[in-house]
Amino acid sequence: MTWSIQTESQGQEVEGENCQNPKVIVAELDWGSVTEEQLQGLRADVVIAADVVYDPEIILALTGMLQKLSTCRADRRAPEVFIASTIRNPDTYQLFQAELDKAGIRWQMIPAHRSCNFLYDVQPDVTILQLFI
Ligand SMILES: C[S@@+](CC[C@H](N)C(=O)[O-])C[C@H]1O[C@@H](n2cnc3c(N)ncnc32)[C@H](O)[C@@H]1O
Repeated sequence: MTWSIQTESQGQEVEGENCQNPKVIVAELDWGSVTEEQLQGLRADVVIAADVVYDPEIILALTGMLQKLSTCRADRRAPEVFIASTIRNPDTYQLFQAELDKAGIRWQMIPAHRSCNFLYDVQPDVTILQLFI
């Protein structure tokens, strides 16, 4: 399952903080079988996933779906992608980062001070990655 946020003025350069009426949709999405066309059809501006890096067996399907998501760039700006995780097993988390690297998806860890309203500030094992797809 994935949440995505669309701004009202699709296709225009609209900064997230200026968007007064974001449209939030919920869509069923099987990472393993979703097609590039289906992902493009979502027309997502922002993709937020929480607690999806929890099992080494799902990492390839997740990174594969993120790679397909990058084809959304074809006719419009690529979505902003944020992945929040509680690091329960550092090996699984490192595997995710390694697979992102292999897939050519750049990422950065968002420093805690930039997200002062998140629980994340008081829970050092919670991290947020921003992906550049
Ligand atoms: C630990 S739960 C996190 C739930 C999420 N934070 C929420 O509040 O709904 C992991 C999620 O990954 C999803 N998931 C695992 N493998 C998946 C796949 N191949 N395709 C789509 N979703 C998958 C599961 O359905 C589950 O919702």
